[in-house]
Amino acid sequence: MGGGRITSALVAGLCRAEHQGAIVVHDRNLKKLRALERDFGVAVEPDLQSAVAMADTLIIAVRPAAVAEMLDDIARCAGASRRLAVSLAAGIPLKKLRPRLGSRVRWARALPSPICRIGRGLTAVTFARNLLGPDRKRVRKFFEQVGPVLEMAESRIDAFNAAYSPAHGYHALTILAKAAQNTGLDPKVALTAGAHALADAILYWRQSGQNLSDLLHEAATPGGTSAATLAAMDAAGYMRVIEGGLAAGIQQARANARR
Ligand SMILES: NC(=O)c1ccc[n+]([C@@H]2O[C@H](COP(=O)([O-])OP(=O)(O)OC[C@H]3O[C@@H](n4cnc5c(N)ncnc54)[C@H](OP(=O)(O)O)[C@@H]3O)[C@@H](O)[C@H]2O)c1
Repeated sequence: MGGGRITSALVAGLCRAEHQGAIVVHDRNLKKLRALERDFGVAVEPDLQSAVAMADTLIIAVRPAAVAEMLDDIARCAGASRRLAVSLAAGIPLKKLRPRLGSRVRWARALPSPICRIGRGLTAVTFARNLLGPDRKRVRKFFEQVGPVLEMAESRIDAFNAAYSPAHGYHALTILAKAAQNTGLDPKVALTAGAHALADAILYWRQSGQNLSDLLHEAATPGGTSAATLAAMDAAGYMRVIEGGLAAGIQQARANARR
C-alpha cells in the first residue's frame, strides 16, 4: 500500500532474492505503478478494493501523515479485518494503528532501509502482543530476504530509527568530502578520500572483529595528524551535534505518533 521510495527498494530487494509469492503494489499514482511493473515485473493494482482482496498480508508504506486516511479506506474494503498488517510508517505506534482496522487484524511494525535494494538493508521489527509465533516468523522471514532483521521492543524503535538510517552515511560522506574540498583538495579526490575513510574503516572493523578503541588507537597515532583532527572535532562538540541530530529524529517520530 504505497508505491514510493521504500516500496521500490523493497520490491527490488525481493526480486533480487527471488521472493516466492505474489507481490501486488497499490498506489494512487499510476506512473509510479507502471514504473514498478516495468522495472520489477510485480503486479500493480490502482483499485484499493481489488488490491486488498488479493492480499493476505498488507504492508502499509505511505508517509506517516497519510496512514490514517489509508487505513480508513482499507477498513471499508471487504475482508480487510482478518489480515496480517505490517506498518512501515516511522513513529506511528501500534496502539494508533490497531483501532483503525479492527481487533482481528494482526499487526507488526517494520523499518526497512533503502539498502534492502541490494539485499543488505537492516530492518527493525516490533510485534503487537497478539501476534503469534507463526506470524512473527513470517514477518521476520519476509524481511530477512533483503538483509538482517533486528527485533526490538516498540519503546526502542524510534531511537533506533533515528540512529540507523543510511542517510547518516551519505550525510557524513557529504560533509567530510565538502570539508576536504574546502581545504583545497580537488572535489573528486576529496570524495574518494572521504569514501575510503568511512567505508574502509567500517569494512575493516567488521572483518577484523577488533573493538573500535583498539582500531582508533592503531589509526590515530598519539601526537599525529589524525589524532589532532579528531581531538579538534571532539572539542568542537562532535558528540553533541550527533546527539542533537538523533534527538530531533526521535522528536519527529513522536510528532508522527500524534497525527
Ligand atoms: N524511505 C525510507 O527510507 C523509509 C525507511 C523506512 C520506513 N519508511 C516509511 O515508509 C513510508 C513510506 O515512505 P516513502 O519514503 O516510500 O514515501 P513516498 O516515497 O512518499 O511513498 C509513498 C507513496 O504512497 C502514495 N500514497 C499516499 N497516500 C496514498 C493513498 N491514500 N492511496 C494510495 N497511495 C497513496 C504516495 O503517493 P503521492 O506521491 O501521490 O503522495 C507515494 O507514492 C513512510 O511512512 C516512512 O516512514 C521509509
